[in-house]
Amino acid sequence: MDRFRITGGAALSGEVTVSGAKNAALPILCASLLSAEPLVLSNVPRLRDVGTMKKLLAQMGTRIETMQMQPDGQEQLRLVSDAMTHLQAPYELVKTMRASVLVLGPMLARFGEALVSLPGGCAIGQRPVDQHIKGLAAMGAEIQIEHGYIKAQAKRLRGARIVTDMVTVTGTENLMMAAVLAEGTTVIDNAAREPEVVDLADCLIKMGARIEGAGTDRIVIHGVDRLGGAQHQVMADRIEAGTFLCAVAATGGDVMVRHASAQTMGATLEKLREAGVLLSESNEGIRVTAHSRPKAFNFRTAPFPGLATDMQAQLMAVAAIAQGTSIIAETIFENRFMHVQELRRLGAQIEVDGHTAIVQGVPALSGARVMATDLRASAGLVIAGLVASGETEIDRIYHLDRGYDRMEEKLRAIGAQVTRIEETAT
Ligand code: UD1
Repeated sequence: MDRFRITGGAALSGEVTVSGAKNAALPILCASLLSAEPLVLSNVPRLRDVGTMKKLLAQMGTRIETMQMQPDGQEQLRLVSDAMTHLQAPYELVKTMRASVLVLGPMLARFGEALVSLPGGCAIGQRPVDQHIKGLAAMGAEIQIEHGYIKAQAKRLRGARIVTDMVTVTGTENLMMAAVLAEGTTVIDNAAREPEVVDLADCLIKMGARIEGAGTDRIVIHGVDRLGGAQHQVMADRIEAGTFLCAVAATGGDVMVRHASAQTMGATLEKLREAGVLLSESNEGIRVTAHSRPKAFNFRTAPFPGLATDMQAQLMAVAAIAQGTSIIAETIFENRFMHVQELRRLGAQIEVDGHTAIVQGVPALSGARVMATDLRASAGLVIAGLVASGETEIDRIYHLDRGYDRMEEKLRAIGAQVTRIEETAT
């Protein structure tokens, strides 16, 4: 298992370019299941999760061709789902990536059947998929849970009014993809408003879908008989962008984060400004400048446009070295404070009381060996390692590779001392 060795203390400066968004690329790759015609996607990030999704689609029969490697290292892919052989998502793939459940809606809508493994437990919380199932059942699907699999069938899905019990991002995406080929109109109320939902809707509309209201909490989908091919550029990753902003907020420095879009990052930018970080937005991206120790700030995670739970660990790393006490409440996932123990090993003073973390900022952290526990927790530890004195080693960096494209290379290019130590499994 690979690990990172970081020598902390260097201020960051220069330019870094944000990759395509993991959480937009994954559902958009699944959208190729909705049509027999080619879907050409650019700005697809090179990530482990994207690799897993490609593997899943390929074993179902989708032909995937890498058309070109773009100059910035992103891929352009051509997907053709015209001769599907295997309408199943097996446990072996779904257990490594919960987003695999995104094949359920499109498969059922186009082929009238799907067999998808239930995702099972996950480090940051229970994360059930009951809302996906409930919504598909409302559209007329017959669904059984058998031997750990969701077995769904429907001659043709019918439009329905669906009110989800909570805001669910992949739930909204799965139901939207199912509804585009249903007979009649579907209304999804309490829909997720995340920019990735909008990016998926944009791609589906290019394929011929009739969708209104993506980006609001009511999405209306008028079903069509078939979808065609399309070309689409995946949006920039707002979480990766936010991670670089937090890194500079913590270490100090001056960095242009190219392709970062302020429109999709409002709440994160607001918190960093409260912390005293200077941010200037332009068409090119966001320039971040930090010359003094950050100030404490409070936040609670919430669905978009609230503060993303996927930014919580990175902002906590900034709070760990801020002047004053920050209070952070995690409202989306029940077990998303695993990085706290590890940040403490670096000298952070953090108390957890239920869903709330009280972070008493300290003037400095000191390097130590720590362990990554999930994707965004790893990013928080990297930021803490960049600011800590001496050497920090982060084990189990494979979590980071699921969602960050060559993070160590990008960080090195802006002056960080990070090396990947490759190790074969022990
Ligand atoms: C997506 C993102 C993930 C992000 C999360 C919250 C992708 C691929 N992943 O995950 O990075 O952290 O949104 O912004 O886009 N829930 C249920 N039943 C359901 C569905 C969800 O109880 O059927 C609960 C979950 O347990 C969680 C909350 O709803 O507490 C939100 O989860 P959800 O938005 O569905 O997260 P994901 O879509 O899995």
